[in-house]
Amino acid sequence: MSEAISTKLNLNLISDRFNVADFGCASGPNTFVAVQNIINAVEDKYHKETGQNPAENITFQVVFNDFTNNDFNTLFQTLPARRKYYSAGVPGSFFRRVLPKHSFHIGVINYAFHFTSQVPKGVTDRDSPLWNKDMHCTGFNEMVKKAYLDQYSADIKNLLDARAEELLPGGLMLVFGSGLRDGVKMSETAKGMVLDFIGASLNDLAQQGVIEQDKVDSFSTPLYIAEEGELRQIIKENGKFTIEAFEDIIHPYGEFPLDPKVLAVSTKASFGAFLSAHFGVDMMRKVFELVEVKVRQEFSRIQNAKPGMQYFIVLRKN
Ligand SMILES: C[S@@+](CC[C@H](N)C(=O)[O-])C[C@H]1O[C@@H](n2cnc3c(N)ncnc32)[C@H](O)[C@@H]1O
Repeated sequence: MSEAISTKLNLNLISDRFNVADFGCASGPNTFVAVQNIINAVEDKYHKETGQNPAENITFQVVFNDFTNNDFNTLFQTLPARRKYYSAGVPGSFFRRVLPKHSFHIGVINYAFHFTSQVPKGVTDRDSPLWNKDMHCTGFNEMVKKAYLDQYSADIKNLLDARAEELLPGGLMLVFGSGLRDGVKMSETAKGMVLDFIGASLNDLAQQGVIEQDKVDSFSTPLYIAEEGELRQIIKENGKFTIEAFEDIIHPYGEFPLDPKVLAVSTKASFGAFLSAHFGVDMMRKVFELVEVKVRQEFSRIQNAKPGMQYFIVLRKN
């Protein structure tokens, strides 16, 4: 990220006021690390290229965006005490405008670029040809995958249109997230396998009569994990941004720690809220107890899964 800012951000864009925006910020603390890294990189570039002290010349402001029901109270109560920026919250869906025209210089989206605005129509309807009997769009049913991809493309184009209006000309969007390498199905990756264990656990509980099968059948998540080629095409078709970098972040120890507990807990962290909203918190906990058992039972299959992708994309406004 520092390298992208150092090489891709035009020095002329760094003026006495510099605005950073985090879209899908949640309630911290990751967002504080992300925005501080951006500010450090901008200061570094400014100092190296002008020889001047950024602290004396630039005022930073950070705007934090998420849904209106995000826990902004926690976010603002836990802002780092030694921060060197002013802060503001901009609630609302990032698929629409949330900021004035030309109001920020660098935007970041961390692990929020795989959300859709809704579950595609038909996917939760047992009588529809698009009915998704998997827990998520893991890739077995091509029609379900296409419905998700169409929804995702429309949503991301709206997101890019809105950011293109809000971003200053020459400004950058930095996007981190989970994706798939071209041709790899979600169900072939470790994450996809764990998602399928959620579906299998829900079906086990339905068969035991603990939850209603109808409730299980009508459950799907508003997420789409895109392939690299799909992401590139959506951004190209939108036409408002140029892809300056698209990197598959390869960690020396693999995509994430391959440990049954870590896999179950991290999936609960990202998917638990969807299950709680549909089935209640107690049922969500039951489901993840079963998921952990399944992860242990199928661990050798998970260890041989195809790699997923953690991407970093740098977009420059055209
Ligand atoms: C997985 S969390 C990532 C949070 C944080 N960026 C991080 O990296 O730790 C995704 C966040 O995106 C937010 N989000 C999802 N869809 C959104 C939308 N349409 N508008 C604004 N925020 C959204 C969620 O509410 C959630 O806080």
